Amino acid sequence: MSPLKVLVTGSKGQLGQELCHVLINEGHDVTGLSRVELDVTNAEAVLNMLNRCQPDIVIHTAAYTDVNRAEKEPEKAFLVNSLGTENVALAVKQIGAKMVYISTDYVFDGTSQYPIREEEATNPLSIYGRSKLLGEEHVRRILSHYFIIRTSWLYGRYGSNFVKKILEAGDHAKTVTVVNDQFGSPTYTGDLADAIAKLIVTDQFGLYHLSNSGSCSWYEFAREIFYLAGKDVLVEPCKTEEFKSPAKRPAYSILEHSRWRDNGYAEIRHWSEALEEFLAHYLISS
Ligand SMILES: NC(=O)c1ccc[n+]([C@@H]2O[C@H](COP(=O)([O-])OP(=O)(O)OC[C@H]3O[C@@H](n4cnc5c(N)ncnc54)[C@H](OP(=O)(O)O)[C@@H]3O)[C@@H](O)[C@H]2O)c1
Repeated sequence: MSPLKVLVTGSKGQLGQELCHVLINEGHDVTGLSRVELDVTNAEAVLNMLNRCQPDIVIHTAAYTDVNRAEKEPEKAFLVNSLGTENVALAVKQIGAKMVYISTDYVFDGTSQYPIREEEATNPLSIYGRSKLLGEEHVRRILSHYFIIRTSWLYGRYGSNFVKKILEAGDHAKTVTVVNDQFGSPTYTGDLADAIAKLIVTDQFGLYHLSNSGSCSWYEFAREIFYLAGKDVLVEPCKTEEFKSPAKRPAYSILEHSRWRDNGYAEIRHWSEALEEFLAHYLISS
C-alpha cells in the first residue's frame, strides 16, 4: 500500500486526534488542522489550504457537535455542519481529491424497529441532525469519490465524552440517573479510525454505517462503564421525558453495517470489548 497524503479537519476533536494518530502509525503523510488553523466556514481559506497541501484525501471531522446548544443557535450549526461541509467538498472537487465526511445516527428519527440500513429514509429530529444531513447532501451533490460515514455515540481517549463524564459523576455521587429508553451503539474512536484507515485506501466509495457491534441503552452503557471500572456506583434508570433537554434525540439509532459487510469487511468488535480495552488504558493514565 502506498502512503496517502491525508488532510484531517477538526484535528483537535476526539475523532480528529485519534485519526491523525492512527493514520500516522499506518505510514500516511498526515496534516491535521484544528479550527484555529482552518475554519471550514471560510470558503477561501479552505480552498487556499487544499491548493497548498494537495492532499489525496480530506477527512472532514470538523463539526458543531453540541446537540442541545444547536437548538438555540441553529444558524451556527448550519454554518459549520452544512456550509462548512459544502466548502470542503467544493475545494476537494477543485483539486481532484477524495473526501470522507463523518455523519451521524441523528439523521434518523428513532422509529425503526430493527437495525437501520444505509438506504433507509432519514428524518432528523434536531437542528444538529438536520445540519449534518444537509452536509451529507452537499457531499453527494458535489462529489462522486466520497465516503460518507454515519457513526454513533463516540468516545475515546481524546476530548470530552459520555464515558469520561459518567466516571467523573461517579467520583462525586453514589448514585447516577441515566436514560433507559434511548438505544444505540457506543463507538470507540480507535476502532472507527481503524475502519476509516481501511476504507480510504480503496475505491469502495459511498455511504457507510459504522459503529462497534452490539447495542445498549445509555443506562446499560453507564452500568457497564462502572462495572468494568470496578466502581461501586448505583445507576438508576429513568425515561427521556424526565430530563428536560432542548434537543430531541432518536429513541432507537442502532445502525446496520450492511455496506461494510457487503464489501467483505468483518464486523467491528462488540462495544463492551472495546470499552473494556479503552478503560484499561484510560484508568491507568488518568
Ligand atoms: N460525538 C459523537 O457521539 C458523534 C456521533 C456521531 C457522529 N459524530 C460526528 O463525528 C465527527 C467527530 O465528532 P467528535 O466527537 O470528534 O467531535 P468534537 O470532539 O466536538 O470535535 C469537533 C471538532 O470540530 C472543530 N470545529 C468546530 N467548528 C469548526 C469550524 N468552523 N472549523 C473547523 N473546525 C471546527 C472543533 O473545534 P473547537 O473545539 O475549537 O470548537 C472540534 O475540535 C463530527 O462530524 C460529528 O458530527 C459524532
